[in-house]
Amino acid sequence: MKKIAILTSGGDAPGMNSVIRAVVRSAVKENLQVTGIRRGYEGLISGDIEEMRADSVSDISDHGGTMLLSARCEEMRTEQGLKRAYEMAKIFSFDALVVVGGDGSFTGAKKLSELGLNVIGIPGTIDLDMPYTEYTVGFDTAVNTGMEAISKIRDTTFSHERVSIVEVMGRNCGAIAMWCAVASGADEVLVPEVRDKKPEDVIKQILTNRAKGKKHNLIVVAEGIGKSQELASKIEEITGISSRATILGHLQRGGAPSAVDRIHGSAMGNFAVEILIAGEKNRAIMVKDGKYGHMDIEQALEQTPVFDQSMYNRVRNLSLTG
Ligand code: F6P
Repeated sequence: MKKIAILTSGGDAPGMNSVIRAVVRSAVKENLQVTGIRRGYEGLISGDIEEMRADSVSDISDHGGTMLLSARCEEMRTEQGLKRAYEMAKIFSFDALVVVGGDGSFTGAKKLSELGLNVIGIPGTIDLDMPYTEYTVGFDTAVNTGMEAISKIRDTTFSHERVSIVEVMGRNCGAIAMWCAVASGADEVLVPEVRDKKPEDVIKQILTNRAKGKKHNLIVVAEGIGKSQELASKIEEITGISSRATILGHLQRGGAPSAVDRIHGSAMGNFAVEILIAGEKNRAIMVKDGKYGHMDIEQALEQTPVFDQSMYNRVRNLSLTG
């Protein structure tokens, strides 16, 4: 093996820069050439690449986002796009491709592996929605950003004795919402995995908490549930309690990565190069039982999500109604 390539793909995540740094530095130490591909699979298809040296990745770990840029590449979902990506990898003679991203990015990598390219996936997404691994780079920073924002919202919610609905990211996965809700002492959390809560149930929860002495309320809603403004308006209309909605959105995808994201990102990047040198093929890097490991990338994509029911219950168990 002489030459490896790295790309970051899909939604960016704080800590991706630590992954890039670790892959580049570890590979250069092993006398491998490293190519950085810009804008994920888009850059692979168009040949938008840069040769990376050890000093190409100096001073990047402090920064959110990804120095290699990222994109959601529609073309990669087509047979023609996939073939072009594979051909480009051959033209540039990559012996292996390291893909940092979520499920969609891993699916692209798996398809490239079926054509014959050796791929290594590193989980990078704020959502913590890849069931094969206990950790995805970016999650900790996103939760901390959400929690800090909710703390600020809490101050004004308290002063005005209001209800605040705070919407956090997570289209199909409620992990960010549940962690933010527990960390912020929210009254209630609404997540896409459990869709049985109606606005009436939330109102009942708010009123029960108020009857027990609470003068303001925080409800965390995951993006996959959405309709936060509608919910706030309904609460105000039915209860007469002043209510506001705040959608945090992409705020949670940015900012300096937390220590946890930098450390996991560095370790996973380093580990990816180690297993490549050991001759591994088509693997997904993971955290399992608190340790770094790897699994066949196809198998990784087949794992079934397990909903964290106890984290979900904890929000209510710790609210005043509990
Ligand atoms: O996958 C990360 C994520 O931030 C999700 O939480 C969110 O649903 C999605 O990406 C938003 O994607 P985009 O930045 O393309 O709008």
